[in-house]
Amino acid sequence: MEKYLISAVIWMAGYVMMAATPPIIVPGAIWPDNRGEHIQAHGGGLTQVGDTYYWFGEDRKQSNPRGRRYVSCYASTNLAQWTFRHQVVQLADPANLGRGWILERPKVFFHAPSRQFVMYAHIDNRTYKYARVAVFTCATVDGDYHYLNSFRPLGHESRDIGQFVDDDGLAYLIFEDRPFGFRIARLSTDYLNVDKEICLIPEHLEGGAIVHYDGLYYALGSALTGWDPNPNRYATAKTLAGPWSDFKEIAPPEKNTYGSQSSMLVKVTGTRATTVLFLGDIWKPNTQWDSRYLWMPLEIGAGKLTLPEPRDWTLDISTGESRIIK
Ligand code: DGJ
Repeated sequence: MEKYLISAVIWMAGYVMMAATPPIIVPGAIWPDNRGEHIQAHGGGLTQVGDTYYWFGEDRKQSNPRGRRYVSCYASTNLAQWTFRHQVVQLADPANLGRGWILERPKVFFHAPSRQFVMYAHIDNRTYKYARVAVFTCATVDGDYHYLNSFRPLGHESRDIGQFVDDDGLAYLIFEDRPFGFRIARLSTDYLNVDKEICLIPEHLEGGAIVHYDGLYYALGSALTGWDPNPNRYATAKTLAGPWSDFKEIAPPEKNTYGSQSSMLVKVTGTRATTVLFLGDIWKPNTQWDSRYLWMPLEIGAGKLTLPEPRDWTLDISTGESRIIK
């Protein structure tokens, strides 16, 4: 009897240890959701509500009916295991954009005063000349988002967009305005518009992302090389308005950001550490549904930021600690 009791205790201890080991994230691999399907959230972004992260991105599934453009939403409490929630946007061409029109890089902001979710996305025609943002709203995080309108933020061309919510809760849109550079602009108090330009960084960068870490802002982006990877670069500043430092590569330039392109920077603060994650896309232009993700913890601090060589890793969401495992 005692023997069985001891084995049961050992088994339980093993089970508890296993349960306590965070799941592994494998950069560049097929990333199955709870249904076993590769996650369709390309060019995406994360929105945190309470303990849950929601990942929104372009849904480029092969079986999607043609003509419409799709955004899907997934939920996770550990950033590794994702549950498909809903195809939150299934938009028909809203402005006679014509064959091959595009909807890219959706980003969702939670507007606390109205408890409304506001999505921004880049919409365009196939030649990328329309250069506008589309705005959608929804009363729930993973419901059907309703298209509101589209516009050029502050009258400027806008292609790739990124989102940034500062530690003080203020929300910003980052957008690529060719030929001037990339702009950081604050959202209006209801989040439905872009209110005020904070900075124009005169660099030709897209896939713009920002994080505030240990008293410094870090902005990064990729060069304009279509779907092909290039050496992504970053700069730092004490305030969002700048002045920004010179831009430097985030990884050895010959690695071309390990085949990926920036989409977002996410700061995870736990009980023991703060980890900043690089969220990037590995695009497969001819088989977009199979495009992969390169998520990695960054080496960051004292004005330096490095994307390490992709390896399998884990994140303990409660302590904030990440660990490279092989
Ligand atoms: C690079 C952008 O970052 C992508 O979102 C997409 O617009 C491609 N260019 C299209 O070539």
